[in-house]
Amino acid sequence: MEPSTQKLIHTFGALADLGQEIAGTGDFSEMVRTSMHLLLGTLALRRGAVAECSGPGPLKCVALWGLGDKMFEGFEIDEAEQQAFLAGDARESLVKNTSSTNNFINRHREKFASEGIELVLPMIVRGEVTGLVLLGGKASGEEFSNDDFETIRAMVRHIGVGIHTHRLLEQVAQRAEENRRLYEELRAIYRDTVRAFAAAIDIKDKYTQGHSERVGKYSEIIAREMGWTEDEVEGIQIAGYLHDIGKLIVDRDIINAPYNIDAKNSSELNRHPSAGYEILAPINHPYADIPLMAKYHHERLDGRGYPDGLTDEQIPMGAKIVSLADSFDAMTTDRPYRRRRSFEDVVHDLRQNSGKQFDPKVVAAFARAILKEVNGDTRERRIVKMLGKGYLEGDQVATLLTDLITDLENSHKKAQKAQN
Ligand SMILES: [Fe+2]
Repeated sequence: MEPSTQKLIHTFGALADLGQEIAGTGDFSEMVRTSMHLLLGTLALRRGAVAECSGPGPLKCVALWGLGDKMFEGFEIDEAEQQAFLAGDARESLVKNTSSTNNFINRHREKFASEGIELVLPMIVRGEVTGLVLLGGKASGEEFSNDDFETIRAMVRHIGVGIHTHRLLEQVAQRAEENRRLYEELRAIYRDTVRAFAAAIDIKDKYTQGHSERVGKYSEIIAREMGWTEDEVEGIQIAGYLHDIGKLIVDRDIINAPYNIDAKNSSELNRHPSAGYEILAPINHPYADIPLMAKYHHERLDGRGYPDGLTDEQIPMGAKIVSLADSFDAMTTDRPYRRRRSFEDVVHDLRQNSGKQFDPKVVAAFARAILKEVNGDTRERRIVKMLGKGYLEGDQVATLLTDLITDLENSHKKAQKAQN
């Protein structure tokens, strides 16, 4: 094989490697360093450097080989010098060419000579100088040939494109970051609006202050315990806040009736899940199924709930969670006509109604979450705080919860066996 052919093959190989380096998504300065090493290796050059610039101004060193660290200290390039680079050819880039019209090289000729720099080439992408490549002489002491210039030009162009691409990617990342921040802000606004709504709903019902907010929080805790994703958890929290929004259109006197209401008023009150759905459905929520969770939060597994009398599998899991959170808060807060129930009583109710009113999986998850707080397995004290001082204290609380969880799991296993 002719030596020149061999060299051509070698150069092509180096170019291919360079292309791969530049296309790689790894560390940017590592990419430039590797590219420069390939360039130096291909032509057997002793030293070299790559500096980046964006417009006129200081040059920023990206890679350096065989040169002092302070190579680029105080190096600046002005508009006219950039234009000269855009207009000039590779031979213009020879430092020893004293007839060069390139003022940048003329200005720094002495420094380049003392550092052993023989070539200064611009990286030009889309008519702009993105930086400079500085190269020392060949280890053999030979002059640069025309072929060498061809190779150098091609490889420098590759590196230039790499830097340009990196900049574009950085801009894209910046935009994405800005968008993310905007989106976060919008989400925060949405959440605040929802909380304001929740407060408005609860104000209408003077006996259940803070009910919607607590249902939101209980729902969130249960969903997290059930392994829902953070987005889904956030969604169900919102659904909890808004589950009673339909009450906004129910007569205030009916909501606030201190004793059991008659059939007519009861059916008026029972309109609130469907009314809530009507209010929420036209809104574009960032989370799925919020309107359905509101609509079905009074459905029961046994089909005796309302508005549609759905049964187990027909009820969305989110609605089942909100339903339990809602009932739990109703049982554990004082009402005008009754004191709240003891925790023992509440656990008894959950056990009795699992499989009838509540989904046993949801009840078990809630019980596990409460037990974690009671046992101190988590640093969270959210449920304990919502229930107030003294409510979850006493030796029997953990036992009640453990027994409930075990019983629910056992009956779940039994049901599975029966199915198989
Ligand atoms: Fe409700």
